[in-house]
Formats: sequence, C-alpha cells, structure tokens
Amino acid sequence: MKINSFKLVQAAAAASKNSVSPYSKFKVGAALLTKSGEIIGGANVESASYGLTCCAERIALFKALTDGKKNFVAVAVVARCDGGPMPCGACRQLLAEYATDATVFIADSGDLKAIREFTVKGLLPSAFVLVP
Ligand code: THU
Repeated sequence: MKINSFKLVQAAAAASKNSVSPYSKFKVGAALLTKSGEIIGGANVESASYGLTCCAERIALFKALTDGKKNFVAVAVVARCDGGPMPCGACRQLLAEYATDATVFIADSGDLKAIREFTVKGLLPSAFVLVP
C-alpha cells in the first residue's frame, strides 16, 4: 500500500486547528491512517492542572481505538516548529503498543511539504511490553 504522506500531514494540520492549548498556545495535530484507508485526527488538550494535558498523538490514538479502529499503518504529527514536533516518550510508548508497525511523518505547519519520516520501532527501540 502506497501511503500518501502529504494527505496525512494535511489531515494532521487540519486536526491541529481544534487544539485546546490555552496555556502553551502550542497547537499540535495528529492523524492516524488505517490499513483500510481511514484517517482519524486528534489534537492536544491542555488542563489548568498542567500534568493532565494530553498530546495530540494520544488523543488521536484513543479516539481511533475507542471507535474500534485498528491496523494503523502511519501517523502524522504537525505543529508550528522547525522540523515539526517529535512525539514525546509517553506517545512513543502508546504508539509502540497500538501502532507497532506504523510509519511516522513529522512536519512543521509552516512547511507541510517538508516531511520527515521515521518509524515507531525506530523512535522507541526495545519498547516496554507486558508479555514479551
Ligand atoms: N504536545 C503534543 O501534543 N505532542 C507532542 O508530541 C509533544 C507535545 C503538546 C502537549 C502540550 O499541550 C503542548 O504540546 C506543549 O508541550
């Protein structure tokens, strides 16, 4: 399956518009692509109790999973920062568990065509698993 990385990055950029980030003002969007071609977007949501904040990647993943979606082949993450936002450690763990074989596309919302490509496995080698 040929993945249209630009389309997925555009979906992540669209999702970032719904970011709820009154504290950091850092709008992040993520978009997951399933094997069947579905795209599920999500954005970061912040709390006045800062530690409760949830990243865009995990919001997208939780939305998708609780809608019964699985078999994720790619995820795109977009925000306005040079090179685009790299997923944090917590998101890498969740992606490792639920999007193990996915490709990761990262882009700066100021330049959506400059897409950097990674893999979930490459971003979190030797991920924690309960049953190895
Ligand atoms: N954030 C994400 O949504 N994804 C990342 O990969 C890194 C950080 C969010 C969390 C918080 O709302 C804001 O960016 C600043 O840390």
